[in-house]
Amino acid sequence: MASSTIRSICCIGAGYVGGPTMAVIADRCPQIQVSVVDLNAERIAAWNDPDLSQLPVYEPGLDAVVGRCRGRNLHFSTAVEAAIAAADMVFLSVNTPTKTKGLGAGQASDLKWVEASARTVAQAARGHTIVVEKSTLPVRTAAAVKAILDAGPAGKSFAVLSNPEFLAEGTAIGDLEGPDRVLIGGEDPEAIEALAGIYGQWVAPQKILRTNLWSSELSKLTANAFLAQRISSINSIAAICEATGADVREVAKAIGADSRIGAKFLQAGPGFGGSCFQKDILNLVYLCRHYGLEEVAAYWEQVVLLNTWQQHRIAKLVVNKLFGTVTGKRIGVLGFAFKADTNDTRESPAIRICRDLLEEGAVLAIIDPKVSERQMARDLGQPAGAATGDHTAEGSWHPVSDVQQAASGADALLLLTEWQQFATIDWPAVATGMRQPAWLFDARAKADASAARAAGLNVWTVGEG
Ligand code: UDX
Ligand code: ADP
Repeated sequence: MASSTIRSICCIGAGYVGGPTMAVIADRCPQIQVSVVDLNAERIAAWNDPDLSQLPVYEPGLDAVVGRCRGRNLHFSTAVEAAIAAADMVFLSVNTPTKTKGLGAGQASDLKWVEASARTVAQAARGHTIVVEKSTLPVRTAAAVKAILDAGPAGKSFAVLSNPEFLAEGTAIGDLEGPDRVLIGGEDPEAIEALAGIYGQWVAPQKILRTNLWSSELSKLTANAFLAQRISSINSIAAICEATGADVREVAKAIGADSRIGAKFLQAGPGFGGSCFQKDILNLVYLCRHYGLEEVAAYWEQVVLLNTWQQHRIAKLVVNKLFGTVTGKRIGVLGFAFKADTNDTRESPAIRICRDLLEEGAVLAIIDPKVSERQMARDLGQPAGAATGDHTAEGSWHPVSDVQQAASGADALLLLTEWQQFATIDWPAVATGMRQPAWLFDARAKADASAARAAGLNVWTVGEG
């Protein structure tokens, strides 16, 4: 099948991956009709909201792309079966979180959504359909997907491809429009070329890599494992820097200048968050154990253990600096998303750190420009204290809308997400509202530490000895 014969695409899953990816495909391929479907009616309604600031995913530039294509060749709907029936190509872009119970709990990916959507495709597809795995999946999932598809009603045929998505949240549109590479794994040359033809509309041919299915699936896990490993590595060095008087930013600059190491992904911080890194490494660990590779499993597992340790370490450090207790003390938390420029909080370091502080009895005033109070409440496992009118109860939290408010009456500010607005805080104004001796704990090295010090604050910056 040549790419020109792909007229209609369906994407199952209108999340952080499916939504932006399909929006860019629709934008770059006006001749293809793209339907993004999801069982979650609330989410689909938000994708169809005439007010583009209400899209369910916050990504810089996404509103413009959706604004150009929606209603033209980009459609969002809950009519899953109808969209599959009309499609030449179906992308599976459903969630694959870590299993919470049963075999492989805490490590293996829960594939029930992938399996359910494969079963729906088997039933609803017509004629020949190319099924593309977009979600990150354990190696050899394509075999399971193919088996499910082939067990459906007769008279249909399927080709399964793996096409992992490497976009990072916050930069999704740029990553999709100018990817470092596009990876397509598969066995059916015609299907591979059909998908390559779509990307070929805007991606240079030499950037479109073709591999076998298993290499493609494993490459995604490996890319995320390597990236996460760099963060745990630099965070481990940050801890040594703090102990010895070295400065992790100077160290990162010095080692990053070596072209073999490279300068990117060496920013020390509160540990990595996001829906992928931890999940994918645990997946890899599970896979290694399955194949009896215990040493390999332990090696990668350490990347996650170090990350968790870094988060607990920061919470402990805050308690220690505040004379060993934060009970009843107000702490302003700057940022809750797992990184800047996203409203996503999945595995955000802020969750573990805030939970530790709440456990110690702190009163948290949390500000994040894009994360809703409802999401924070879900993540922290308790509603905002503000809901009960009590802003002072020990072990409670409430949202605030500016830094000044977060700082008012606080013993400390704790910077957890590197939103640009936290780089330009008016420190003299903020410091006057705080209870002395007051602290700034900057877990992202984002704030203007010298201005904060000049305003009378004690400052701790991650990785600074
Ligand atoms: C990641 C991969 O980058 C992407 O290729 C893959 O498709 C999905 O997983 P994402 O999780 O969206 O993307 O964001 P990323 O920019 O990779 O950041 C992940 C976490 O690492 C964030 O919490 C971020 O703050 C942290 N990070 C990143 C650091 O602490 N230091 C760094 O130097 C870089
Ligand atoms: P990701 O970050 O991988 O995009 P999300 O959780 O943001 O993950 O999005 C996955 C989406 O897939 C969710 O909106 C969920 O409702 C949807 N989904 C899961 N299973 C199905 C299914 N069988 N049919 C349709 N949509 C599904």
